[in-house]
Amino acid sequence: MNPPQEKILVLDFGSQYTQLIARTTRELGAYCEIHPHDMPAESLLAFAPRGVILSGGPRSALEKNAPPVSDAVLNCGAPILGICYGMQALAARLGGTLRKSPRREYGPASIVRATDSILLDAAFGGEKTLPVWMSHGDEIAELPPGFSALAKSESIDGIPAAMADAARNIFALQFHPEVSHTRNGREILDRFLRDICGLGCGWTAPNFADAAVADIRAQVGNEKVLLALSGGVDSAVAAALLHRAIGDNLVCVLVDNGLMRLGEVRQVREVFAERFGMSLDVAEASERFFAALKGVTDPEEKRRRIGHAFIEVFEARARDAGADAKWLAQGTIYPDVVESARAASGKAAAIKTHHNVGGLPERLHLKLLEPLRELFKDEVRRLGLLLGLPEDLLGRHPFPGPGLAVRIPGEVTRERAETARLADAIWQEELRASGCDRLVAQAFAVLLPVRSVGVMGDFRTYEDAVALRAVTTTDFMTADWARLPDDVLARASARIVNEVPGVNRALYDITSKPPATVEWE
Ligand code: XMP
Repeated sequence: MNPPQEKILVLDFGSQYTQLIARTTRELGAYCEIHPHDMPAESLLAFAPRGVILSGGPRSALEKNAPPVSDAVLNCGAPILGICYGMQALAARLGGTLRKSPRREYGPASIVRATDSILLDAAFGGEKTLPVWMSHGDEIAELPPGFSALAKSESIDGIPAAMADAARNIFALQFHPEVSHTRNGREILDRFLRDICGLGCGWTAPNFADAAVADIRAQVGNEKVLLALSGGVDSAVAAALLHRAIGDNLVCVLVDNGLMRLGEVRQVREVFAERFGMSLDVAEASERFFAALKGVTDPEEKRRRIGHAFIEVFEARARDAGADAKWLAQGTIYPDVVESARAASGKAAAIKTHHNVGGLPERLHLKLLEPLRELFKDEVRRLGLLLGLPEDLLGRHPFPGPGLAVRIPGEVTRERAETARLADAIWQEELRASGCDRLVAQAFAVLLPVRSVGVMGDFRTYEDAVALRAVTTTDFMTADWARLPDDVLARASARIVNEVPGVNRALYDITSKPPATVEWE
């Protein structure tokens, strides 16, 4: 897909909010991309940004090797907005003075208006103070030459909370406008995009759909495209988009590995084959997967075996169903692209091997097509709605590629998968019935490799335990356990123990990420 002309560059200094900056920018109608803070000068010039946003970051700009703002950024001619670390790094680079704060500000804070400004006036809306979200341990003792303070910190007297050199079009905020706790934070970013960068802000899902359809047609012509459907949101939207672009030249394959959620295969059939009339080949391969998992208890080994089995099954089907296909489409979305780049750069530790279909296009001698690689999850969902996919499918929680296998610590068998699937379905049902599903980002049941004693009627039982997990998160990098009402937990527990054969105990997982992860394996 050819990116639009009006592009914003978000330079990543490592903040947990970087993707949030980019997402908000896109929601405001400006196309943007995230690149590393040390993006080479030639790439930056070629990107030709209409504005540059410097993200926050975990480092202190006072450290010896703190990542600097490059000359390429300062000389690119586009307006600059530094956020948090971005502000400190700008101040350090342009001749200001920083020092460690005697009183660090983390969390909610208030700033006081210091002067009129295009950037902040609308956010203040005539008030003197503005509630914002802060997260910094350093402060600016002296502004760089040419800069004035637009706002000051209320609690730490006189410390700049926002600064600008309007003549050079350089702006900076000590707080995080991208976080919802900053009142009118979106308004601040909107003013930067429209009034300072002069953007029309016309990037929307419908525009994207039309442009993507045209691009896919131009790229693929009359050739056939293969797509692995998983029941997840991304591959579903990729399928709907491709179907709109090339109709019957799209061939979808669903590998039923026996590890999917209850009713998932049926729903995929109903939506894609029956409602959309797509060509869908369902490969019933559960036997193969359970055989591959026999005796395996190590989580990474499970992932590897499932990955291999998937490739083998898909390869065989591709030869039949898509014999003359030239392309393999994947539902890669923007966070996957950013995470893969971070992982490849060695800047992030590999905790789990997530990508189980890597290398498939080369193996099958197919060209790779990734029509969603520029979109965030919520953009993908909006696009899906526009393409006519049902809301319940688009609203589904993310589901890991290896499926229920990573929710069954210990050996995975067909019987245990059945138990986990049933417990999970009841948990989902109760969350939906109480409306709590909308409050959590992901929820599922884990079948534990441990049995305990219970009593049912007059009989002793010695059966499995199930852990229920429900988390809140925006980016899945960090997550907290959801504070759900007692009665929802009570109903789910009672139903699972009564209705799932072989289970006599239910637990609620009250661990955040970190130190735990979202999934158990
Ligand atoms: P963790 O467990 O790493 O999960 O905190 C973060 C998010 O990633 C999903 N996840 C996976 N997705 N293949 C996937 O496609 C995997 O192997 C995998 N492991 C975890 C998890 O469901 C959560 O949304």
